[in-house]
Amino acid sequence: MERKKYLWEKMTAFPISCKIYYNCEMDGALIISDLRATVEDKLILNGVDMHVRAGEIHAVMGPNGSGKSTLAYALMGHPSYRISSQKSLIKIGKKNIVSLSSEERAKEGLFLAFQSPIAIPGVHVMNLLRVAYQEIHEQGSSLVTKSSGVHNPVFGKLSTNGEVDLLAFRKTVKEYAQMLRIDDAFLSRGIHDGFSGGEKKKMEMLQALVLAPKYAIFDEIDTGLDVDALRVVASGIDRLVKNGTGVIIITHYQRILKYLRPDRVHILVNGKIVKTGKASLAKEIESHGYKHYTT
Ligand SMILES: Nc1ncnc2c1ncn2[C@@H]1O[C@H](COP(=O)(O)OP(=O)(O)OP(=O)(O)O)[C@@H](O)[C@H]1O
Ligand SMILES: [Mg+2]
Repeated sequence: MERKKYLWEKMTAFPISCKIYYNCEMDGALIISDLRATVEDKLILNGVDMHVRAGEIHAVMGPNGSGKSTLAYALMGHPSYRISSQKSLIKIGKKNIVSLSSEERAKEGLFLAFQSPIAIPGVHVMNLLRVAYQEIHEQGSSLVTKSSGVHNPVFGKLSTNGEVDLLAFRKTVKEYAQMLRIDDAFLSRGIHDGFSGGEKKKMEMLQALVLAPKYAIFDEIDTGLDVDALRVVASGIDRLVKNGTGVIIITHYQRILKYLRPDRVHILVNGKIVKTGKASLAKEIESHGYKHYTT
């Protein structure tokens, strides 16, 4: 076990080839290898390598415009972000998901909380959550297998015809909403419709908790949060991780990392990870900025 741990440490610090050191495919890890992506024919991601295992927290930091949100969108399969190299891989375990649509990726267990979520007036939070949950947890989805590894309080309560037990579902949503200090009244409002910046971030967190993905990407979930909301959102991520979800937090600040101990911190500059380190790397960035990495 110790040897495995040692090899894993080496592998994530120097992301050469996962397979050389440890079979992370067998481990169901999120494997990002040589990811190159273009937006409007402009190359933004220039060979990103990362390996995230279930229950790990990886922070991605980097200057404005370095490609952090592009990485998030490319992982989730946004159609405007084109993978530009045949060598690029995004795998969950053994399955390469590069050619899958966003919906199919969600069914494989990926979730993205947007930096700037858009409002959908008329689509109530509870209904959206139920439909999204039902869609991605339909029979045959890789989230509905014993190997998914993510603790999911609703899955145990699917009724015999495969539909979500509505009462159990609403109870779970309300419990998580309470944990995030979201008033019940928000659950019957249009998603993000008229929500404040902080309320939107909490709502993204609620979605992640309810949908119970294998891997969740949070793009600046901490931006614009007051101290109390920050603590609450951090506790949501902590719960996700305890349930077995692997987490990528894109952030500019070290402050959320005071509540969560990242297993790895990656610095992304000009579409490439230029340094990977431990939690102390985030502190170094806060003190000295990115000048060591941009020149
Ligand atoms: N649709 C688009 N059309 C043209 N350029 C784009 C588009 N989307 C992103 N870009 C460019 O890609 C680069 C990376 O953008 P991205 O949003 O990924 O940066 P970021 O690291 O998330 O920045 P920030 O910290 O400000 O959120 C930027 O130069 C941006 O202008
Ligand atoms: Mg961004």
